[in-house]
Amino acid sequence: MKVVATAEEMRELGAELAGLLRAGDLAVLSGPLGAGKTTLVQGLADGLKVRGPITSPTFVIARVHPSLAGGPALVHVDAYRLGGDLEVDDLDLDASLEESVTVVEWGEGLVEGLADDRLEISIERGESGEERTVRLRGVGARWEGVV
Ligand SMILES: Nc1ncnc2c1ncn2[C@@H]1O[C@H](COP(=O)(O)OP(=O)(O)OP(=O)(O)O)[C@@H](O)[C@H]1O
Ligand SMILES: [Mg+2]
Repeated sequence: MKVVATAEEMRELGAELAGLLRAGDLAVLSGPLGAGKTTLVQGLADGLKVRGPITSPTFVIARVHPSLAGGPALVHVDAYRLGGDLEVDDLDLDASLEESVTVVEWGEGLVEGLADDRLEISIERGESGEERTVRLRGVGARWEGVV
């Protein structure tokens, strides 16, 4: 568990978490509207050294951010408008998930079919102000002993 005081700190946390992620990994971000999910992904993108900018896609469900450093691409998915199960084919990606780090906002309950292993990141807002609480939970053999 980590308490994050500002958006800048959330980006720093994202950059730190990028060090845990490698090609083929899936991270699922949960938390209410405005929690800071996209802000955390901005930090992940910095840490992974992929091409930005990371924005909240309004009409696009997924964006591929290629690496600028010869590493894995970042696939950023916003599943807010998706109903039912998320199918990899629905994403129509120009990237293979085995070769990318995939991060899904609003993916709880949707992504279980994408991978047996996943890093669950939940963000909670406090009553007021900028403070956020971030919790990590690794699911599957990939994450045993990592978080
Ligand atoms: N501690 C904090 N961590 C993250 N964001 C913060 C924090 N404090 C304030 N903010 C602000 O809150 C907003 C979070 O927006 P962001 O788009 O990252 O949320 P989100 O969870 O992706 O929302 P959505 O559900 O709409 O996708 C930003 O404007 C950010 O600057
Ligand atoms: Mg968002």
